[in-house]
Amino acid sequence: MFRIAVIAGDGIGPEVITEGLKVLRILEECDNLKFDMRELDIGATRYIESGKTLTQDDLDVLSEQDAIYFGAVGDPRVKPGILEREIILALRFYFDQFVNLRPVKSWVPGARLKSSKPFDIVFLRENTEDFYLGSGGFISPRSNSVSLAIVRSFYKLSLEISSSLSNDEELAFELGLLSKSGVTRFAEYALDMAKRRGQTKITVVDKANVCTNMYGLWRRVFSTLAEERDIDIEYVYVDAMCQALVKNPDKFNIVATPNMFGDILTDLVAEIQGSLGLACSGNINPNGVSMFEPVHGSAPDIAGRGIANPIGAILAAKLMLEFLGSDRLARKIEKAVEEVILKGIVTPDLGGYAKTSEVGDAIVESLLNM
Ligand code: IPM
Ligand code: MG
Repeated sequence: MFRIAVIAGDGIGPEVITEGLKVLRILEECDNLKFDMRELDIGATRYIESGKTLTQDDLDVLSEQDAIYFGAVGDPRVKPGILEREIILALRFYFDQFVNLRPVKSWVPGARLKSSKPFDIVFLRENTEDFYLGSGGFISPRSNSVSLAIVRSFYKLSLEISSSLSNDEELAFELGLLSKSGVTRFAEYALDMAKRRGQTKITVVDKANVCTNMYGLWRRVFSTLAEERDIDIEYVYVDAMCQALVKNPDKFNIVATPNMFGDILTDLVAEIQGSLGLACSGNINPNGVSMFEPVHGSAPDIAGRGIANPIGAILAAKLMLEFLGSDRLARKIEKAVEEVILKGIVTPDLGGYAKTSEVGDAIVESLLNM
């Protein structure tokens, strides 16, 4: 039995998670599997009604699970940043999910995919540091100093930043930080994955020609560990990587990125794959509670219309099964998704006319026929 916490969240989150749960329930019926699902009411509505984002009670419940299945958070009624930082980023940090695994591939050649070249890439995005620490501040003539405290499993850092500004000058800053231990565990994960898959090379993205301190450390750690494992590293600057992905996505296999560049590149490559609605991700702590979610957000502009693509969420469920040790079931889901895309039962983002629930039903149907 697997204990799964379900956080459907906001906007299209509940719509796509419903379809993912349909798929998991069918597997339960057909494959003698048991999920103990626990739905948690976390998101914009609870925040608006009670001021609560993540509570200690939520964290205690989540800590007891084998995995978390997550939809999306974000709501036009709430100032940007609150739900993102206090829910999704807070969960990634609390559970120390230091790898964000984002596989992308050209699903079915010809199915309105935006690249003519077949590709299959695993993006690994560092998920706890870089510019997404959530540490920054604001200095103005009226408030001329900021104290920051950063606590991670490897270190505690406190910073005092001050300036005496005159007139109406204002300064705003966001701290980016990498630690040797943080990069080491992430690089080991990426390089070990390459070894397991028989790859002799990985691509590592950064902007080491500008952010020389952070990405200097990043490269030093990657190069040392790669040499020990006899794996080649191809370093690519993030701007060049955008161009390369559009031009030749087939040239890449395992791509390791810092947190912020990974966020950006995985939206780009999701669209090259056909649609952001197809992209899934796993926030992984190999020794803890991992969390699986579609890459897209809450998309309030299309929420409630029944047209959200549920495939990203269904593939997130597939990734979750893989991590729970059910490779066979994960492959079944992948095959069912492939069949349904091939039949053209897809939502408008992929050029189709199907509703969210029709895509989910078609995937279930395909699973039942296997
Ligand atoms: C993602 C999202 C999040 C991120 C936001 C919602 C904080 O864009 O998962 O890619 O930036 O990581
Ligand atoms: Mg993103």
